[in-house]
Parts: sequence; structure tokens; C-alpha cells
Amino acid sequence: MREGYEGTGPGAITPDGCAVELYSRLPVGDEPDVIAAAVPESARILELGSGVGRMTHALLERGFTVTAVDESARMLERVRGARTICGPIEELDLGETFDVVLLASFLVHTGDAEVRRGMLRTCARHVAEGGCVLIQREGEDYHENVPRERKDPSGFTVRIASSEPAGDGVNSVRAEYEFPDAVWTQTFRARPLTREQFEEALQEAGLKVDRYLTEDRIWVRAVSAV
Ligand SMILES: C[S@@+](CC[C@H](N)C(=O)[O-])C[C@H]1O[C@@H](n2cnc3c(N)ncnc32)[C@H](O)[C@@H]1O
Repeated sequence: MREGYEGTGPGAITPDGCAVELYSRLPVGDEPDVIAAAVPESARILELGSGVGRMTHALLERGFTVTAVDESARMLERVRGARTICGPIEELDLGETFDVVLLASFLVHTGDAEVRRGMLRTCARHVAEGGCVLIQREGEDYHENVPRERKDPSGFTVRIASSEPAGDGVNSVRAEYEFPDAVWTQTFRARPLTREQFEEALQEAGLKVDRYLTEDRIWVRAVSAV
């Protein structure tokens, strides 16, 4: 387990505190629709931090080709129909490029700024000429109004129970997922980034915002700056 990260609940837990069983149960939301609206049909997608394939499977159904990357072999063994690569995103160098590189699940807010730089460089290194990088950021009020919870219609409650400063501009966040028969928690480090800080981080990696895809600016389409 990475320092500052922890997960509890049934089944295998990844180094960043995610539970494999939990992600196998979570329904996919509107993410595949946002992605499909921003990229060409049949695009070749490199999905970074795919987990069990919650989004991967929905993207495959829409006719995209997906290469799914995750550092957890336990997560990847549940991915069906996609090429899988096990390893740290920040060190990935496949020697090939993709129409779309996807960095979702707020991974760009990872607590370790060096890992974030590595992740964004991985995005830049793998995007084809004329292609794009799609990033899912935290909402700008993600660390406010805590605790907060949402009851999902499929029958579980997700709660951001706390978000406390842990030094160096990083927060320690605790999330809880309650199902009728099981509870999972994840504690992780998240570095809030203002829009300006986020755009600077992109620039450092040789990327720039093409456009924000959603009104809340959570989803971003970035392109090569060179
Ligand atoms: C919160 S889960 C989200 C999974 C998936 N994107 C989804 O929405 O269902 C984050 C995933 O990213 C992976 N991950 C986190 N940091 C990583 C890193 N530095 N390199 C590779 N995988 C990483 C974890 O193992 C986990 O499967």
C-alpha cells in the first residue's frame, strides 16, 4: 500500500486503496457518453487506470478499441475484450501512439506531484498527431461540503466522509461505499488544483486545453501544445 493510502472491505485492495470487488459492482455513469461525444468514431483509446474495466467495457460496446493500463493485476484480470498492460502509468512507454489517451477517475490529482508529472508526460508521449487526451478532474468544490453523500438508484450510498489537510497542499480524503451486504472505505491523498494550476501542469507536460467538455469543467479535452 502506498503511504497515505488505505482501503478496507471484502476482497483485494490496490496500492491506492481501491477495492476490486467494489469497482466490479459500481455502475458506469455518463463517462462513456462524454468520451464518445469528444472523439472520432472507432478511435483507438489508451485508458490509464482502467481498474476492472467499468468504463472499458462500455467503450468497447460503442465500437472503440481499448488498451487498458493499471498497476493492479487483480483489477486487470476482470477486463474483457481489451488488451491489458500491468504497470505504473507514470513509467509507461509503449513506443506507440493512440487517437485518444484517457486519464479519468481524478488520477491527475494524485498526492505526489512527481507522479502527476509522470502521468501527464505519459499522456503526451502516447497521443497521436491530431489526437487528444481526455482528463477527468475533480469538481472545483470537491473538497468542500464535506461530509456529503449520494444514494445511487442501484442501491448503495457513497459518502465523502472527510477531507483534511495532510501537508504540502495535499488533502487526505476518506470515501465510504455502503451496500446492503458490504461496506468499503478508501483513504487517499488528493492534491486540489485550481483551473490555473491544472492548466500549468498540462503546459509542463507539453499539453494544452483544447476545450472543457462539461459545464463544471470536470472533463477536459487536451491536445499537444507543440
Ligand atoms: C479509482 S480506481 C478507478 C478505476 C476506473 N478508472 C473506473 O472508473 O472504474 C483507480 C484505478 O487506478 C489505478 N491506479 C492508481 N494509480 C495508478 C498508477 N500510478 N499507475 C497505474 N495504475 C494506477 C488503481 O489500481 C485503480 O485500479
